[in-house]
Amino acid sequence: MTVSSRTQVGIVGAGPAGLLLSHLLALRGIDSVVVENRSRAYCEARQRAGLLEAGTVELLRAVGLGDRMDAEGLEHGGIYLQFEGERHHLDFRDLTGGRWVTIYAQTEIVKDMIRARLAAGATIEFEVSGTEVAELAGDHPVLRFTDSAGVRHEVTCDAIAGCDGFHGICRDSMPAGLVTVAEHGYPYSWLGILATVPPSTDELIYARHEDGFALHTMRTPQVSRLYLQVPADEDIERWPDARIWSELQHRLGVPGWDLKEGPITEKAISPMRSFVASPMRYRRLFLAGDAAHIVPPTGAKGLNLAMADVTVLAAALTQLLRDGNAGLAEAYSDTCLRRVWRATHFSWWMTSMLHVDPHADPFDAALPLSQLRYVISSRAAATTLAENYTGYLPLTWSAQPQLPQPRLPQT
Ligand code: FAD
Ligand code: PHB
Repeated sequence: MTVSSRTQVGIVGAGPAGLLLSHLLALRGIDSVVVENRSRAYCEARQRAGLLEAGTVELLRAVGLGDRMDAEGLEHGGIYLQFEGERHHLDFRDLTGGRWVTIYAQTEIVKDMIRARLAAGATIEFEVSGTEVAELAGDHPVLRFTDSAGVRHEVTCDAIAGCDGFHGICRDSMPAGLVTVAEHGYPYSWLGILATVPPSTDELIYARHEDGFALHTMRTPQVSRLYLQVPADEDIERWPDARIWSELQHRLGVPGWDLKEGPITEKAISPMRSFVASPMRYRRLFLAGDAAHIVPPTGAKGLNLAMADVTVLAAALTQLLRDGNAGLAEAYSDTCLRRVWRATHFSWWMTSMLHVDPHADPFDAALPLSQLRYVISSRAAATTLAENYTGYLPLTWSAQPQLPQPRLPQT
């Protein structure tokens, strides 16, 4: 038996994009159903991003999701760039007229958003299977899934948002031949660890070492997060904890500074990829976040892009479903792709400048170092990094929820 129902917006995926979209739509009086194939506990524990642009922070505050972030997030006014054995500080506030970034883990944002949606009575179906989107050529696309109890559902929607990440089903549900993919691979991966030890630095350290890139970031004043460049097809079994710490000490070490070690509670290898699918929309199916684009994490842009997409999408869907005006919906893909390509270029630039390409010839090997020297010696170059890192394009969201006004009785 299939249970039929309807909603205004069917949302596939309870990652940051899907959850924020559902929240923003509710502020505009639009209902949605979110389906997610993982459990709530899995979504809340999946270790991913940690760094928020100033605009993302301001958005979360403006929509009532900022309380814990403001209490627990760590505001940073710059980063360290390290190469040729020396560490240099970039002061973002000075370079950009006061902009900053915030460390607040994706796990915590996801927890805050799930709690807020459930408290508002929203439907999030966790542990679904067999997700399908269909009837895409018309004005009432259909979302089908099997819930955690084994019951099949068919939800008739006015629009569907594919917020189902890189491996989701929505992108491939667009008509064959519609989507063009621009892709770039990198010949290395990141090995990331979470360690119960206070960070050894006040701000993030991005280090280029002749043996590869290393990054020291953090989660809280008690928990450090660190990354190492490793070969693209590396096996995690080759990295016992002692080897990880020794390589981090080797790549991050500078005279007079100590890297504190502690128990490693999590370790994983992530591939590096740039990927942009366009257009991000087919009629009333809209892709958002990692479902449409992936950047390598060196620029810390993926989560910020996902949040930016759905901010644009919430406004577009409000105009479409409440006012019957398709203008913003038709512009959705182009609007998002402008930001996506800026972040794609910046992430590629940071990645190629800071990593060691194992296949580089002497010409290719010399350019990144020259670029790093330029960034730390030219205010113009440093400003380019700072304004892109803190968020180059503004994120606009009207703080006033534009809910339908109650009609006053006629006199
Ligand atoms: P996802 O978080 O992937 O969510 C998609 C959801 O859809 C998932 O919960 C998935 O289970 C669900 N789903 C998939 N298929 C289906 C289906 N068929 N049916 C139902 N549900 C489905 N970004 C930053 O901005 N700053 C950083 O510092 C940063 N660091 C990173 C570090 C690492 C190591 C990695 C790997 C990524 C990092 N990112 C960073 C990127 C960031 O984590 C992602 O861009 C972000 O998670 C994208 O959110 P999303 O909601 O689009 O997709
Ligand atoms: C993180 O905190 O996980 C993080 C920060 C900055 C990056 C990538 C990851 O560039």
